[in-house]
Amino acid sequence: MSNTFATFEFTDEQHSHALPILKGTLGPSAIDVRNMYSNQDIMTYDPGFRSTASCQSGITYIDGEKGVLLYRGYPIEELAERYSFTQIAHLLTSGELPDSQQLAVFEKELRRYNLLHDQVLSFYKGFRRDAHPMAVMVGVVGALSAFYQDAQDYNSPDDQHRAAIRLIAKMPAIAAASYTYSIGRPIRHPDNSLNFASNFLQMMFGRPSEPYHVDPLLAKAMDQILTLHADHEQNASTSTVRMAASSGANPFACIAAGIATLWGPAHGGANEAVLNMLENIGAPENIPAAIARAKDKKDPFRLMGFGHRVYRNYDPRSALIRETTKQVLAHLGMENDPLMATALELERIALSDEYFISKKLYPNVDFYSGILLRAMGFPSRMFTAVFAVARTVGWVSHWLELKQEAHGIDRPRQLYTGPTLRHVDKR
Ligand code: SDX
Repeated sequence: MSNTFATFEFTDEQHSHALPILKGTLGPSAIDVRNMYSNQDIMTYDPGFRSTASCQSGITYIDGEKGVLLYRGYPIEELAERYSFTQIAHLLTSGELPDSQQLAVFEKELRRYNLLHDQVLSFYKGFRRDAHPMAVMVGVVGALSAFYQDAQDYNSPDDQHRAAIRLIAKMPAIAAASYTYSIGRPIRHPDNSLNFASNFLQMMFGRPSEPYHVDPLLAKAMDQILTLHADHEQNASTSTVRMAASSGANPFACIAAGIATLWGPAHGGANEAVLNMLENIGAPENIPAAIARAKDKKDPFRLMGFGHRVYRNYDPRSALIRETTKQVLAHLGMENDPLMATALELERIALSDEYFISKKLYPNVDFYSGILLRAMGFPSRMFTAVFAVARTVGWVSHWLELKQEAHGIDRPRQLYTGPTLRHVDKR
């Protein structure tokens, strides 16, 4: 229980009210206002939750001022350099990096559950070929809850674990199928002789008429992309998953809600929007005009891939993915890629512009990921689908964490500004 308190006083009253202050292990403390409305008949007001801790969580920590990102206490820079995505998935879901035996068991489970039920595949035929992959993923993942009647008691640890594994394991096949279906190529099944990232690439780009050769550097880049996008504290899509989970909704439906939220261009859809923006800018000489538009309050145009609600410093993921992008472009003989040239010049100009400096707008994880994914062969419409494959690990980790708590339903209130009581005309 807290022994430090915040007190507040109403200017028109004589007494003050004390609210406990809660301290976490890192980061800002929080004033515990959960009983304020019932005790003081007054609420807090925080649209966009800029100053609100919606929950307690021990999964990911971000220090926006210092550009720090920790997964279960480990810096992202150390993890991305030395660990695979499946090791990171074990860390985020269970709290610890796996030893060799635990990793073998975890990866065996992921291989056991990575196939899609044959009838799930028939869902794809109901979509238009030009359906956006995120629209397909929302539909297919939500429908998975109808395929797993064997684990409906999501209060049991075993069923929670099985649902978590199923979601993480199946997401690459679901995402890849949304692409291959759109281009009329037969949907491919996992090849369990490959690791998680390589399997995703073969399901995306393999052809039934010839063996698929994994390019080790592209597989490593894919693995890093998945790791860097795996979790990010209470971002919009994770908060959505937690809100849905608080009602006791089926985990597949909760993750479908997360996919829907991630799709937005202000969130996970930004990587696709960055590429469209860079293509619209066309060449470095057009950058000043784009910067001017981004600074014009009357113009809704924003520099996609710049800014972040939490980071007021460089997004540590952006620096890592920037280097990988340069390596992959060089590996593929694309070091003179015009979009990369435009991106580097845009970054240079923006980071020396007073508007971006004063507002602490730096490139975020989405600024380079689109260039990298495009170089690897992903169409821009698939960028956010790749993000969803990675973020499923974070969403599932937060779902598991919430299921361990005696968590009532999330039910925010509002500051009502509508009509006061009135009655219909009885004439
Ligand atoms: C992701 O939450 C997460 O953790 C998300 C994510 C994750 O891993 O889950 O990190 C992934 O979503 C990254 C963000 C991807 N989105 C984009 O790149 C879209 C472009 N960025 C902006 O839409 C914006 O920066 C947001 C949405 C990311 C943040 O929006 P905020 O918090 O409302 O921005 P802000 O309050 O920091 O803005 C401060 C000022 C404002 O101007 P003023 O009203 O003070 O005059 O900066 C301006 C904004 O208009 N501003 C921008 C800008 N971003 C903010 N101006 C031009 N271009 C931009 N990109």
